[in-house]
Amino acid sequence: MTIKKRIVSGMRPTGALHLGNYHGALKNWIDMQDSFDCFFFIADWHALTSDYEDTSHIKEYIRKMMIDWLGAGLSPDKSTLFIQSHIKYHAELFLLLSMITPVPWLERNPTYKEQIAELKNKDLSTFGFLGYPILQAADIIIYKAEGVPVGVDQSAHIEITREIARRFNYFYGHVFPEPETILTESAKILGTDRRKMSKSYDNAIFLSDTPDAIRKKVATMITDPQRKKRSDAGDPDVCNVFSFHKIYSTKDMVDEINQDCRKAAIGCVECKQKMAESLISFLKPIREKTQYYQQNPDTVDDIIAKGNEKASTEASKTMESVREALKI
Ligand code: TRP
Ligand code: SF4
Repeated sequence: MTIKKRIVSGMRPTGALHLGNYHGALKNWIDMQDSFDCFFFIADWHALTSDYEDTSHIKEYIRKMMIDWLGAGLSPDKSTLFIQSHIKYHAELFLLLSMITPVPWLERNPTYKEQIAELKNKDLSTFGFLGYPILQAADIIIYKAEGVPVGVDQSAHIEITREIARRFNYFYGHVFPEPETILTESAKILGTDRRKMSKSYDNAIFLSDTPDAIRKKVATMITDPQRKKRSDAGDPDVCNVFSFHKIYSTKDMVDEINQDCRKAAIGCVECKQKMAESLISFLKPIREKTQYYQQNPDTVDDIIAKGNEKASTEASKTMESVREALKI
């Protein structure tokens, strides 16, 4: 038996997951479960770095997200699924790493600068927000991960993680491997309004949407903007509905629409109806599994408890060597 490489990744608890989350991260995690020793967690402390004022939804969001993970195919038999704030060792390692991390490393973090500039309505001048990458580094190296599957937006954080691990090893002796970024190529999935799919833009289709909700949302989707009348020929290559067909419909249907749209032999209303049905069939098994977990909350509690326990055991072992290396 070959030993599988360990990977770690986390998601902030945003509640119900949408198709963008699925194709951008979750699908990739699901596919990695057989070839890696996977640790996947809900980064609830990370949520507090920017959303610290109103924490009223966090429990509900954690729960929803875990259920969507399970429904979509993350399996507790294959992966360790857990919640960051339940493993207090992350906080201990975060504290220790903060002692050795130079502030300029954090200040030049591109996402730090971007978010401060972008999220003007939030006061992000906090210590916790600046220290975000140290917490992320702790999450990763506490499991001695060799790889971190993330989107390109996170690669600067993994680079800082490697630098922090290297600095620790240099001062106190080799404890941590330097994790590699395993880049998720995100098939950019757009929302119903053609902007990036996002819960806050109100343009998202959720894994847990009912068939009727999906039909309604798809009906509002923007198509080829040049195609004004039913008799105008369309261009599938610029149409977001067609992009969805390519993901969810059969090859035969995609080929047919590709031809018919260009000669105005199909209208957008019908085309959308077809796509909605393809998407509904795609989501059906996920929805059924999600419903099962919603109706069996004890099973979910059990999965979380087991995942937490496994993560805790591993993190505790690492912290013993960390304390030993630090002579503390
Ligand atoms: N920062 C990540 C994000 O916003 C979430 C995260 C927290 C994470 N800790 C992590 C990702 C550790 C990978 C590894 O998406
Ligand atoms: Fe898009 Fe379909 Fe309309 Fe063509 S027919 S523009 S592919 S929705």
